[in-house]
Amino acid sequence: MTHENVTPMTSIKAEAPQKVIIEMKSLTKVFSTESIETHALRGVNLAIYNQDYISISGPSGCGKSTLLSLLGLLDTPTSGQYFIDGQDVSNLSINDRAEIRNQHIGFVFQAFNLIDELSVFDNVALPLRYREPAMLEKDIKKEVLTSLEKVAMSHRCDHKPNQLSGGQQQRIAIARGLVGKPTILLVDEPTGNLDSKNGDAVMAMLAKLNSEGMTICMVTHDPRYADMAKRKLHLLDGLIADEYGTGEYSVDALALEKLSAQEAK
Ligand SMILES: Nc1ncnc2c1ncn2[C@@H]1O[C@H](COP(=O)(O)OP(=O)(O)O)[C@@H](O)[C@H]1O
Ligand SMILES: [Mg+2]
Repeated sequence: MTHENVTPMTSIKAEAPQKVIIEMKSLTKVFSTESIETHALRGVNLAIYNQDYISISGPSGCGKSTLLSLLGLLDTPTSGQYFIDGQDVSNLSINDRAEIRNQHIGFVFQAFNLIDELSVFDNVALPLRYREPAMLEKDIKKEVLTSLEKVAMSHRCDHKPNQLSGGQQQRIAIARGLVGKPTILLVDEPTGNLDSKNGDAVMAMLAKLNSEGMTICMVTHDPRYADMAKRKLHLLDGLIADEYGTGEYSVDALALEKLSAQEAK
């Protein structure tokens, strides 16, 4: 047998999509007030595959946030069906929704939404502390450290969020999103509160996580960042207007290197 040299690849070709993990069928959302009905989503059909990296872009008011909150089980559809891992989650009670959300969904928000009074460790541990049945502290510790390593932030465990830069805070938020091993990571304008250097680093981090197997769905205004996803959806007036993407993308190895160099200081 010959011994082959395995060289690390920076360009990742997507494998043929395998398993549908999330499916929306004719999903609508109508917001009704006394005087006006707003049709925020008008019949969205969407299948998300294991290890997908999807970006959703479109003009203000087209329904991006509504779609993300339905995906994340923060709200219920007016009509249509929604499945996660084959389970119909369209019409769950509030308690069941919370449990499925805790098991299947990781969130990353524009404003990080970290708790300033808690250490980095405790911020990341938060989703696990809501698990039923309760997790052992040593298991929580293991998962938190693994998650912080994935975003190269384990050396900041004992810091408070406000002692960190915006880019670092967003990476802590990503670690919190990953810690429960979710089916999908939902990301809402992750770079909206960051300068371009930190924004690029966070995007490089997301691409790396996807290359390691994480399924990601991201909403972004920024066309340059939308283009970094494998599948690019355009939302218009509450409908998916079109989708483009070759299924190929490359991890910005340079941005990641710069990031590590910065961290090492
Ligand atoms: N809670 C709500 N009550 C009433 N209307 C809403 C509510 N949330 C969103 N909308 C309306 O639904 C439409 C889509 O909003 P949204 O999903 O926030 O769009 P985007 O995130 O693309 O800017 C908009 O017309 C918005 O005003
Ligand atoms: Mg929005």
